[in-house]
Amino acid sequence: MDKQTAGEAVTVVTGASAGIGRSAAIEIAARGMGVVVTYNSRPEGAEETVAMIRDNGGRAAALPLDIGQGETFPKFKSELARVLGDEWGTDKIHALVNNAGFGGGRGFEEMTEEAFDQYYRVLLRGPYFLTQTLLPLIHDGGSIVNTSSSSVRPGGTEAGFSGYAAMKGGLVVASRFLARELSPRGIRVNSIAPGPTRTRISDDAFEKYPEIIAGIAAKTALGRLGEPEDIGKVIAFLVSDDSAWITGQDIQVAGGYEL
Ligand SMILES: NC(=O)c1ccc[n+]([C@@H]2O[C@H](COP(=O)([O-])OP(=O)(O)OC[C@H]3O[C@@H](n4cnc5c(N)ncnc54)[C@H](OP(=O)(O)O)[C@@H]3O)[C@@H](O)[C@H]2O)c1
Repeated sequence: MDKQTAGEAVTVVTGASAGIGRSAAIEIAARGMGVVVTYNSRPEGAEETVAMIRDNGGRAAALPLDIGQGETFPKFKSELARVLGDEWGTDKIHALVNNAGFGGGRGFEEMTEEAFDQYYRVLLRGPYFLTQTLLPLIHDGGSIVNTSSSSVRPGGTEAGFSGYAAMKGGLVVASRFLARELSPRGIRVNSIAPGPTRTRISDDAFEKYPEIIAGIAAKTALGRLGEPEDIGKVIAFLVSDDSAWITGQDIQVAGGYEL
């Protein structure tokens, strides 16, 4: 990103009505970029994120997006182009953060093709084809960050997560290959792998079952559960030019979870 245009650069963060996406959007805006946040079922959550950014003196807008519905991506691209023009007077973005997703396990013997397809559509196919759809809007020298999971690596191998982790693993591998394929345009592609992080994931499991937190902290070198800010700051770093020499990497942001 050209330093002179830093104030004009815009990043799209999917799934920013809560959790890690919200924190990433706030951290990116705090570094002087505009942010377009997306939401699926909770427009009020996205509006809250936008308000938090504006209260800090930043610029943001919200758009709906169901990442599992690829046929809607061309319409999303048009809406994004309209918002970019209206709010920022530009037709390009600096970065795309593919963060939207859901968690929760399902034992192998209970897995259905429908449930497997839902993991696939939201966690792998969606980010892959959203990236393809928005690629013409991404500036040369831009950045793509994909949210994977610590479950992808040995050590995070919990029973019941084969479907979820398979899709996140696919996203990590695709990120590395895209880093190669998009490098002629100077576009960097990385993934980040959060460990267990206090969000609404898995139907608000950390709020509903706080007793699970001590066990997770005990398996984490730094001795606590991750907070959304722990992850959002690293996403903002990977979006920014401070990480200009990092591409094709999967970066664990997990406090040493199951080292
Ligand atoms: N928290 C963890 O422990 C953890 C660990 C590893 C990886 N991750 C990954 O981190 C990412 C963010 O999750 P989170 O922990 O921040 O969870 P969260 O608090 O539940 O937030 C999930 C976000 O994704 C959006 N979303 C969910 N399904 C969507 C869909 N079909 N289309 C578009 N947006 C959708 C939600 O939008 P609405 O609320 O508007 O529906 C929300 O903004 C996910 O990819 C998750 O797999 C999380």
